Amino acid sequence: MITTINQLKADDLRGKKVLVRVDFNVPIKDGKVSDDYRIERALPTIKFLRDNGAKLLLISHIETKDVEMPTLRPVFDLLSQQLSLSFTEDCFSDEGRQGIEMLEDGEVILFENIRRYEGEKANDPEFASKLAALADMYVNDAFAVSHREHASIVGVPQHLPHYAGLLLSDEIKHLGISDSTPHPFLFILGGAKFETKLPLIEKFLDRADKMFIGGALANDLLKLKGVDVKESLVSSMSGIVTTSLSAIVSNPKIMLPEDLVWDGDKIMDAGPKDIEALRPHIMGAKYILWNGPLGDYEKGFKEGTIALSKLIGQSSADSVVGGGDTLASIKELGLMDEFTFISTGGGAMLEFLLKGTLIGVEALEK
Ligand code: 3PG
Repeated sequence: MITTINQLKADDLRGKKVLVRVDFNVPIKDGKVSDDYRIERALPTIKFLRDNGAKLLLISHIETKDVEMPTLRPVFDLLSQQLSLSFTEDCFSDEGRQGIEMLEDGEVILFENIRRYEGEKANDPEFASKLAALADMYVNDAFAVSHREHASIVGVPQHLPHYAGLLLSDEIKHLGISDSTPHPFLFILGGAKFETKLPLIEKFLDRADKMFIGGALANDLLKLKGVDVKESLVSSMSGIVTTSLSAIVSNPKIMLPEDLVWDGDKIMDAGPKDIEALRPHIMGAKYILWNGPLGDYEKGFKEGTIALSKLIGQSSADSVVGGGDTLASIKELGLMDEFTFISTGGGAMLEFLLKGTLIGVEALEK
């Protein structure tokens, strides 16, 4: 049984030091946060705890491609515009500890990138207990990293009373596919990493009424169907015919792109006819689940994903989407409000859909 923070009373929180694991792993451009969706979604938990008199210790990681150990300073700069908070480089230094001790009720400190400590990714028990010793309670509001067996996700809750934050609990509620999920149910899966997503295709083939597979993911299946994909990106499994793969390509629920957009020898996107073919399914669906772009978004092949976002935006179905590039296209188009739920998770969303839980969620049940 997981307890969410809004089940607690103000007396449970007032004056308590609460270690809040958030996911502020957001993109940074020119020293500034370029997409604040994850930060925005963490605010209700931060404000709830703050307004109930807790002393907040915010911990997060951040990763960028170009810097070995990036800083959360740009996140601090942005958050400072919304709430008053301080920043500590090292929560274990004398200065850091003093800062924590001097916190008044309702005050907030953001710690520097938790992955600066080796113990975090290694899930070192000693590191977890040292981190836990800084606080009285632990809250996980970092859905997007809750598939990682890291100290601040699974280690710390072993030492402290632990709770789910409002975002984490919202993600669990919306991504939990059950018998009461409405039908027709359309599942759209794009992006790459065929090996990772194959179990998801297998699982949802039973549950969904229709499944469109796009992105590089589709290339393996197109190849199996005899389409010459030339130099297109395929997985290491490509060409290996298994019973499961044969069953997938021949299943009438499966739709693959046919109006292929090529760049030289490579398939890069789904074309307008594919989006049109999806139209009746999108308009007739009661529930749409979508993860991953239809084209190579990073290389600028955004058309298919954008057209799909617009079309889903017009449907009256419950629509649940997630994944970084998918989110980027929805934001770019100002369609955020058209979707029922936008997950903050990428890998975490996929893993949650597959398993119905995450290691970080299980850690709150114990
Ligand atoms: C994400 O962006 O998917 C999460 O923040 C997890 O980040 P990671 O893949 O670096 O663990």
